[in-house]
Amino acid sequence: MYWLEFAGEDDPFAALEATAAASDVSILAPGIGTARALSPERAAGLAMTRAAGSVVGHTDASIASARALLETAAIDHEGTVAVRARDLRSSAGVDTQSAERELGTVLTDRGFEVDLDDPDHTLRALFASGPIARDHASENAAEDPLGIESADLIDVEANADEPDVCLLGWVDVERDAAFGKRAPTDRPFFQPGSMDPALARALGNLAGARPGATIVDPMCGTGGLLLEGTLLGARMVGVDAQSKMTQGSRENMESIAAADADWEIVRGDARRLPLADDAADGLVVDVPYERQSAVAADDLDDLVEGALSAAIDVAPRAVVVADRSWIDAARSAGWFVKCVHRRRVHRSLNRSIHVLERPDDSLDR
Ligand SMILES: C[S@@+](CC[C@H](N)C(=O)[O-])C[C@H]1O[C@@H](n2cnc3c(N)ncnc32)[C@H](O)[C@@H]1O
Repeated sequence: MYWLEFAGEDDPFAALEATAAASDVSILAPGIGTARALSPERAAGLAMTRAAGSVVGHTDASIASARALLETAAIDHEGTVAVRARDLRSSAGVDTQSAERELGTVLTDRGFEVDLDDPDHTLRALFASGPIARDHASENAAEDPLGIESADLIDVEANADEPDVCLLGWVDVERDAAFGKRAPTDRPFFQPGSMDPALARALGNLAGARPGATIVDPMCGTGGLLLEGTLLGARMVGVDAQSKMTQGSRENMESIAAADADWEIVRGDARRLPLADDAADGLVVDVPYERQSAVAADDLDDLVEGALSAAIDVAPRAVVVADRSWIDAARSAGWFVKCVHRRRVHRSLNRSIHVLERPDDSLDR
Protein backbone atom coordinates (compact mmCIF):
# COMPACT_ATOMS: atom_id res chain seq x y z
CA MET A 1 0.00 0.00 0.00
CA TYR A 2 1.25 3.50 -0.88
CA TRP A 3 0.42 6.98 0.35
CA LEU A 4 0.23 10.29 -1.50
CA GLU A 5 0.37 13.76 0.00
CA PHE A 6 -1.72 16.00 -2.19
CA ALA A 7 -0.75 19.59 -2.96
CA GLY A 8 -3.30 22.36 -3.34
CA GLU A 9 -6.90 22.23 -2.22
CA ASP A 10 -8.57 20.10 -4.86
CA ASP A 11 -8.20 16.50 -3.68
CA PRO A 12 -10.45 14.88 -6.31
CA PHE A 13 -8.35 16.49 -9.06
CA ALA A 14 -5.09 15.51 -7.34
CA ALA A 15 -6.38 11.94 -7.03
CA LEU A 16 -7.45 11.95 -10.68
CA GLU A 17 -4.01 13.15 -11.81
CA ALA A 18 -2.37 10.55 -9.54
CA THR A 19 -4.04 7.77 -11.54
CA ALA A 20 -1.29 8.54 -14.12
CA ALA A 21 1.29 7.24 -11.61
CA ALA A 22 -0.61 4.87 -9.34
CA SER A 23 -3.45 2.36 -9.38
CA ASP A 24 -6.54 2.16 -7.18
CA VAL A 25 -6.16 5.70 -5.87
CA SER A 26 -8.42 6.54 -2.92
CA ILE A 27 -8.83 9.65 -0.80
CA LEU A 28 -8.19 8.68 2.82
CA ALA A 29 -8.52 12.11 4.45
CA PRO A 30 -8.17 15.75 3.36
CA GLY A 31 -4.86 15.99 1.50
CA ILE A 32 -4.03 12.27 1.84
CA GLY A 33 -4.45 9.59 -0.81
CA THR A 34 -3.64 5.91 -0.85
CA ALA A 35 -2.86 3.63 -3.80
CA ARG A 36 -2.22 -0.04 -4.40
CA ALA A 37 0.71 0.33 -6.79
CA LEU A 38 2.91 3.34 -7.49
CA SER A 39 5.52 4.25 -10.09
CA PRO A 40 8.02 6.51 -8.25
CA GLU A 41 9.36 7.92 -11.56
CA ARG A 42 5.91 9.00 -12.67
CA ALA A 43 4.89 10.17 -9.20
CA ALA A 44 7.86 12.55 -9.26
CA GLY A 45 6.28 14.26 -12.27
CA LEU A 46 2.84 14.82 -10.72
CA ALA A 47 1.81 18.43 -10.25
CA MET A 48 -0.78 17.90 -7.54
CA THR A 49 1.08 15.35 -5.38
CA ARG A 50 3.81 16.69 -3.14
CA ALA A 51 5.30 13.39 -1.96
CA ALA A 52 4.56 9.67 -1.98
CA GLY A 53 5.86 6.39 -0.63
CA SER A 54 5.06 3.16 1.15
CA VAL A 55 2.61 3.08 4.04
CA VAL A 56 3.67 2.00 7.53
CA GLY A 57 0.12 2.29 8.84
CA HIS A 58 -2.57 4.75 9.82
CA THR A 59 -4.42 5.59 12.97
CA ASP A 60 -6.39 8.49 14.43
CA ALA A 61 -4.87 11.98 14.37
CA SER A 62 -3.14 11.97 17.75
CA ILE A 63 0.54 11.79 18.59
CA ALA A 64 -0.10 9.07 21.20
CA SER A 65 -1.77 6.81 18.64
CA ALA A 66 0.96 7.50 16.06
CA ARG A 67 3.55 6.57 18.69
CA ALA A 68 1.76 3.33 19.55
CA LEU A 69 1.54 2.45 15.86
CA LEU A 70 5.24 3.09 15.26
CA GLU A 71 6.30 1.15 18.34
CA THR A 72 4.83 -2.05 16.92
CA ALA A 73 5.09 -1.49 13.14
CA ALA A 74 7.28 -3.75 11.01
CA ILE A 75 10.25 -1.73 9.70
CA ASP A 76 12.39 -3.24 6.99
CA HIS A 77 14.67 -0.22 6.48
CA GLU A 78 18.30 0.14 7.55
CA GLY A 79 20.41 3.27 7.93
CA THR A 80 19.79 6.74 9.33
CA VAL A 81 16.30 8.22 9.63
CA ALA A 82 14.46 11.51 10.10
CA VAL A 83 10.82 12.15 10.91
CA ARG A 84 8.89 14.92 9.18
CA ALA A 85 5.38 15.63 10.41
CA ARG A 86 2.73 17.78 8.75
CA ASP A 87 -0.66 18.92 9.92
CA LEU A 88 -2.29 19.15 6.51
CA ARG A 89 -4.16 22.41 5.97
CA SER A 90 -3.83 22.90 9.75
CA SER A 91 -6.86 20.63 10.04
CA ALA A 92 -5.87 18.33 12.92
CA GLY A 93 -4.52 20.86 15.45
CA VAL A 94 -1.44 18.72 16.13
CA ASP A 95 1.90 20.14 17.29
CA THR A 96 4.11 18.76 14.50
CA GLN A 97 7.39 19.49 16.35
CA SER A 98 6.25 17.34 19.27
CA ALA A 99 5.17 14.65 16.82
CA GLU A 100 8.60 14.65 15.16
CA ARG A 101 10.34 14.51 18.53
CA GLU A 102 8.18 11.70 19.92
CA LEU A 103 8.25 9.58 16.80
CA GLY A 104 12.01 10.18 16.49
CA THR A 105 12.40 8.84 20.03
CA VAL A 106 10.50 5.68 19.08
CA LEU A 107 12.86 5.14 16.15
CA THR A 108 15.92 5.77 18.34
CA ASP A 109 14.56 3.28 20.90
CA ARG A 110 14.20 0.81 18.06
CA GLY A 111 17.90 1.16 17.28
CA PHE A 112 17.90 3.75 14.49
CA GLU A 113 20.30 6.65 14.28
CA VAL A 114 18.62 9.98 13.56
CA ASP A 115 20.20 12.27 10.95
CA LEU A 116 18.10 15.35 10.31
CA ASP A 117 20.34 16.79 7.58
CA ASP A 118 20.92 13.86 5.26
CA PRO A 119 18.91 10.82 6.36
CA ASP A 120 18.89 7.57 4.41
CA HIS A 121 15.14 7.34 5.03
CA THR A 122 12.48 9.88 5.92
CA LEU A 123 9.37 8.89 7.81
CA ARG A 124 6.40 11.14 7.06
CA ALA A 125 3.65 11.59 9.63
CA LEU A 126 0.62 13.18 7.96
CA PHE A 127 -2.13 14.41 10.27
CA ALA A 128 -5.47 15.43 8.74
CA SER A 129 -9.00 15.86 9.93
CA GLY A 130 -12.29 17.01 8.40
CA PRO A 131 -14.67 16.29 5.56
CA ILE A 132 -13.35 14.81 2.34
CA ALA A 133 -13.82 17.15 -0.61
CA ARG A 134 -16.17 15.91 -3.27
CA ASP A 135 -15.83 16.80 -6.87
CA HIS A 136 -17.13 20.30 -7.50
CA ALA A 137 -19.36 18.72 -10.14
CA SER A 138 -21.49 17.05 -7.52
CA GLU A 139 -22.54 20.43 -6.19
CA ASN A 140 -23.75 21.34 -9.65
CA ALA A 141 -25.11 17.96 -10.67
CA ALA A 142 -28.54 19.40 -11.34
CA GLU A 143 -27.08 21.86 -13.83
CA ASP A 144 -25.44 19.10 -15.78
CA PRO A 145 -27.33 15.84 -15.50
CA LEU A 146 -24.97 14.26 -18.02
CA GLY A 147 -21.93 15.06 -15.92
CA ILE A 148 -19.69 12.17 -15.07
CA GLU A 149 -17.68 13.20 -12.09
CA SER A 150 -14.10 12.30 -11.51
CA ALA A 151 -15.18 11.52 -7.94
CA ASP A 152 -17.00 8.52 -9.42
CA LEU A 153 -13.62 7.08 -10.32
CA ILE A 154 -11.95 7.74 -7.01
CA ASP A 155 -12.91 5.80 -3.89
CA VAL A 156 -13.36 7.53 -0.62
CA GLU A 157 -12.33 5.10 2.11
CA ALA A 158 -15.40 3.40 3.46
CA ASN A 159 -15.33 4.32 7.12
CA ALA A 160 -15.13 7.99 6.87
CA ASP A 161 -17.13 10.98 5.86
CA GLU A 162 -15.15 13.08 8.32
CA PRO A 163 -11.92 11.16 8.87
CA ASP A 164 -9.41 12.01 11.56
CA VAL A 165 -6.17 10.39 10.48
CA CYS A 166 -2.46 10.10 11.13
CA LEU A 167 -0.74 8.27 8.30
CA LEU A 168 2.83 7.08 8.79
CA GLY A 169 4.81 6.26 5.67
CA TRP A 170 8.31 6.20 4.23
CA VAL A 171 9.08 8.87 1.63
CA ASP A 172 10.03 7.27 -1.69
CA VAL A 173 9.57 10.31 -3.89
CA GLU A 174 9.18 14.06 -3.54
CA ARG A 175 7.83 16.31 -6.24
CA ASP A 176 10.17 18.24 -8.45
CA ALA A 177 8.60 21.60 -7.71
CA ALA A 178 10.61 23.40 -10.39
CA PHE A 179 7.64 23.81 -12.71
CA GLY A 180 6.02 26.17 -10.23
CA LYS A 181 8.85 28.65 -10.78
CA ARG A 182 8.33 28.93 -14.54
CA ALA A 183 5.64 31.61 -14.47
CA PRO A 184 4.17 32.19 -17.95
CA THR A 185 4.77 35.92 -17.49
CA ASP A 186 8.54 35.25 -17.34
CA ARG A 187 8.62 33.58 -20.75
CA PRO A 188 9.76 35.45 -23.86
CA PHE A 189 6.26 35.17 -25.40
CA PHE A 190 3.31 35.74 -23.08
CA GLN A 191 -0.39 36.19 -23.83
CA PRO A 192 -3.36 36.50 -21.48
CA GLY A 193 -4.79 32.99 -21.22
CA SER A 194 -1.38 31.30 -20.99
CA MET A 195 -1.95 28.25 -18.86
CA ASP A 196 -0.68 27.95 -15.31
CA PRO A 197 2.26 25.46 -15.30
CA ALA A 198 0.82 23.23 -12.55
CA LEU A 199 -2.45 22.78 -14.42
CA ALA A 200 -0.53 22.19 -17.67
CA ARG A 201 1.57 19.54 -15.92
CA ALA A 202 -1.53 17.80 -14.51
CA LEU A 203 -3.27 17.80 -17.90
CA GLY A 204 -0.14 16.41 -19.55
CA ASN A 205 -0.09 13.58 -17.03
CA LEU A 206 -3.76 12.84 -17.64
CA ALA A 207 -3.19 12.80 -21.40
CA GLY A 208 -0.41 10.21 -20.97
CA ALA A 209 2.73 12.36 -21.38
CA ARG A 210 5.75 10.22 -20.50
CA PRO A 211 8.95 9.04 -22.18
CA GLY A 212 8.15 7.30 -25.44
CA ALA A 213 4.69 8.89 -25.84
CA THR A 214 3.66 11.45 -28.47
CA ILE A 215 1.12 14.02 -27.30
CA VAL A 216 -0.59 16.59 -29.54
CA ASP A 217 -1.83 20.02 -28.46
CA PRO A 218 -3.98 21.12 -31.41
CA MET A 219 -4.51 24.68 -30.07
CA CYS A 220 -1.13 25.24 -28.50
CA GLY A 221 -1.20 29.04 -27.99
CA THR A 222 1.95 30.11 -26.16
CA GLY A 223 3.07 26.50 -25.67
CA GLY A 224 2.60 25.97 -21.92
CA LEU A 225 1.30 22.44 -22.39
CA LEU A 226 4.10 21.64 -24.82
CA LEU A 227 6.70 22.73 -22.31
CA GLU A 228 5.34 20.65 -19.42
CA GLY A 229 4.85 17.66 -21.74
CA THR A 230 8.53 17.70 -22.76
CA LEU A 231 9.50 17.94 -19.07
CA LEU A 232 7.55 14.70 -18.56
CA GLY A 233 9.66 13.17 -21.32
CA ALA A 234 7.02 13.07 -24.07
CA ARG A 235 7.43 14.08 -27.70
CA MET A 236 5.10 17.07 -28.08
CA VAL A 237 3.43 18.28 -31.28
CA GLY A 238 1.82 21.72 -31.20
CA VAL A 239 -0.62 23.14 -33.74
CA ASP A 240 -2.18 26.60 -33.78
CA ALA A 241 -4.17 28.54 -36.34
CA GLN A 242 -2.39 31.83 -35.72
CA SER A 243 1.17 32.34 -36.94
CA LYS A 244 1.70 34.74 -34.04
CA MET A 245 1.13 31.77 -31.73
CA THR A 246 3.24 29.25 -33.61
CA GLN A 247 6.13 31.73 -33.76
CA GLY A 248 5.71 32.73 -30.11
CA SER A 249 5.42 29.21 -28.78
CA ARG A 250 8.49 28.19 -30.81
CA GLU A 251 10.37 31.10 -29.26
CA ASN A 252 9.28 29.92 -25.78
CA MET A 253 10.29 26.32 -26.43
CA GLU A 254 13.65 27.31 -27.91
CA SER A 255 14.50 29.40 -24.86
CA ILE A 256 13.04 27.23 -22.07
CA ALA A 257 12.72 23.58 -23.15
CA ALA A 258 15.71 21.30 -22.59
CA ALA A 259 18.14 21.07 -25.50
CA ASP A 260 17.27 17.40 -26.06
CA ALA A 261 13.49 17.90 -25.75
CA ASP A 262 11.56 16.45 -28.69
CA TRP A 263 8.93 18.84 -30.06
CA GLU A 264 7.48 20.25 -33.23
CA ILE A 265 5.12 23.17 -33.82
CA VAL A 266 3.13 23.69 -37.02
CA ARG A 267 0.54 26.17 -38.15
CA GLY A 268 -2.73 24.43 -38.86
CA ASP A 269 -6.41 23.99 -38.11
CA ALA A 270 -7.43 21.82 -35.16
CA ARG A 271 -10.46 20.73 -37.21
CA ARG A 272 -8.20 19.31 -39.94
CA LEU A 273 -5.10 18.16 -38.15
CA PRO A 274 -2.09 17.68 -40.42
CA LEU A 275 -1.37 14.31 -38.78
CA ALA A 276 -1.79 10.68 -39.81
CA ASP A 277 -4.35 8.42 -38.12
CA ASP A 278 -3.00 7.10 -34.81
CA ALA A 279 -0.01 9.43 -35.02
CA ALA A 280 -0.13 10.08 -31.28
CA ASP A 281 -0.86 8.51 -27.90
CA GLY A 282 -2.91 11.39 -26.56
CA LEU A 283 -4.16 14.93 -27.12
CA VAL A 284 -4.53 17.77 -24.73
CA VAL A 285 -6.83 20.57 -25.81
CA ASP A 286 -7.18 23.98 -24.17
CA VAL A 287 -10.34 25.33 -25.81
CA PRO A 288 -10.41 29.12 -26.31
CA TYR A 289 -12.65 31.03 -23.97
CA GLU A 290 -14.82 33.02 -26.32
CA ARG A 291 -14.13 36.34 -24.66
CA GLN A 292 -10.38 35.81 -24.41
CA SER A 293 -8.73 34.12 -27.38
CA ALA A 294 -9.28 34.15 -31.10
CA VAL A 295 -11.45 31.43 -32.61
CA ALA A 296 -10.41 30.47 -36.14
CA ALA A 297 -13.71 28.80 -37.07
CA ASP A 298 -17.34 29.80 -37.71
CA ASP A 299 -17.91 29.88 -33.99
CA LEU A 300 -16.84 28.04 -30.83
CA ASP A 301 -19.25 25.11 -31.44
CA ASP A 302 -17.83 24.63 -34.93
CA LEU A 303 -14.27 24.73 -33.57
CA VAL A 304 -14.81 22.28 -30.69
CA GLU A 305 -16.99 19.84 -32.63
CA GLY A 306 -14.51 19.87 -35.53
CA ALA A 307 -11.49 19.51 -33.25
CA LEU A 308 -13.03 16.60 -31.31
CA SER A 309 -13.89 14.78 -34.56
CA ALA A 310 -10.39 15.26 -35.94
CA ALA A 311 -8.78 14.25 -32.64
CA ILE A 312 -10.43 10.83 -32.41
CA ASP A 313 -8.58 9.66 -35.54
CA VAL A 314 -5.23 10.83 -34.22
CA ALA A 315 -5.10 9.35 -30.69
CA PRO A 316 -7.02 7.02 -28.39
CA ARG A 317 -7.20 9.50 -25.52
CA ALA A 318 -7.87 13.21 -25.14
CA VAL A 319 -8.01 15.63 -22.25
CA VAL A 320 -10.07 18.73 -22.99
CA VAL A 321 -10.16 21.78 -20.73
CA ALA A 322 -12.79 24.44 -21.30
CA ASP A 323 -14.92 27.02 -19.53
CA ARG A 324 -18.01 24.82 -19.99
CA SER A 325 -19.07 21.24 -20.50
CA TRP A 326 -18.51 19.77 -23.98
CA ILE A 327 -19.88 16.33 -23.10
CA ASP A 328 -22.50 16.32 -25.88
CA ALA A 329 -19.97 17.40 -28.51
CA ALA A 330 -17.50 14.75 -27.32
CA ARG A 331 -20.12 12.01 -27.52
CA SER A 332 -21.31 13.18 -30.96
CA ALA A 333 -17.71 12.94 -32.16
CA GLY A 334 -17.63 9.30 -30.98
CA TRP A 335 -15.68 9.69 -27.73
CA PHE A 336 -16.44 7.81 -24.52
CA VAL A 337 -16.52 10.42 -21.72
CA LYS A 338 -14.59 8.81 -18.91
CA CYS A 339 -15.02 11.68 -16.49
CA VAL A 340 -15.44 15.41 -16.20
CA HIS A 341 -13.82 17.27 -13.38
CA ARG A 342 -14.93 20.79 -12.57
CA ARG A 343 -12.50 23.23 -11.04
CA ARG A 344 -13.67 26.54 -9.78
CA VAL A 345 -11.29 29.29 -10.88
CA HIS A 346 -13.30 32.19 -9.49
CA ARG A 347 -16.94 33.11 -9.04
CA SER A 348 -17.75 33.48 -12.69
CA LEU A 349 -15.26 31.01 -14.17
CA ASN A 350 -15.30 27.25 -13.84
CA ARG A 351 -13.04 24.96 -15.76
CA SER A 352 -14.34 21.63 -16.97
CA ILE A 353 -11.67 19.02 -17.55
CA HIS A 354 -12.92 16.17 -19.73
CA VAL A 355 -11.07 12.87 -19.96
CA LEU A 356 -12.08 11.18 -23.22
CA GLU A 357 -11.27 7.75 -24.59
CA ARG A 358 -11.91 6.14 -27.94
CA PRO A 359 -14.61 3.51 -27.19
CA ASP A 360 -12.61 0.54 -28.55
CA ASP A 361 -9.67 1.57 -26.43
CA SER A 362 -11.73 2.12 -23.29
CA LEU A 363 -13.10 -1.46 -23.58
CA ASP A 364 -9.54 -2.75 -23.31
CA ARG A 365 -8.93 -0.97 -20.03
C1 LIG B 1 -6.94 29.03 -24.89
S1 LIG B 1 -5.77 29.31 -26.15
C2 LIG B 1 -4.50 28.17 -25.76
C3 LIG B 1 -3.64 28.66 -24.65
C4 LIG B 1 -2.46 27.76 -24.40
N1 LIG B 1 -2.82 26.54 -23.68
C5 LIG B 1 -1.38 28.51 -23.63
O1 LIG B 1 -0.96 28.08 -22.53
O2 LIG B 1 -0.96 29.55 -24.14
C6 LIG B 1 -6.52 28.64 -27.57
C7 LIG B 1 -5.74 28.72 -28.86
O3 LIG B 1 -6.53 28.15 -29.88
C8 LIG B 1 -6.12 28.74 -31.09
N2 LIG B 1 -7.11 28.44 -32.13
C9 LIG B 1 -8.30 29.04 -32.36
N3 LIG B 1 -8.91 28.47 -33.41
C10 LIG B 1 -8.10 27.47 -33.85
C11 LIG B 1 -8.18 26.49 -34.90
N4 LIG B 1 -9.23 26.44 -35.74
N5 LIG B 1 -7.18 25.62 -35.03
C12 LIG B 1 -6.08 25.66 -34.21
N6 LIG B 1 -5.95 26.58 -33.23
C13 LIG B 1 -6.96 27.45 -33.05
C14 LIG B 1 -5.96 30.19 -30.74
O4 LIG B 1 -5.09 30.80 -31.67
C15 LIG B 1 -5.36 30.10 -29.33
O5 LIG B 1 -3.96 30.19 -29.39
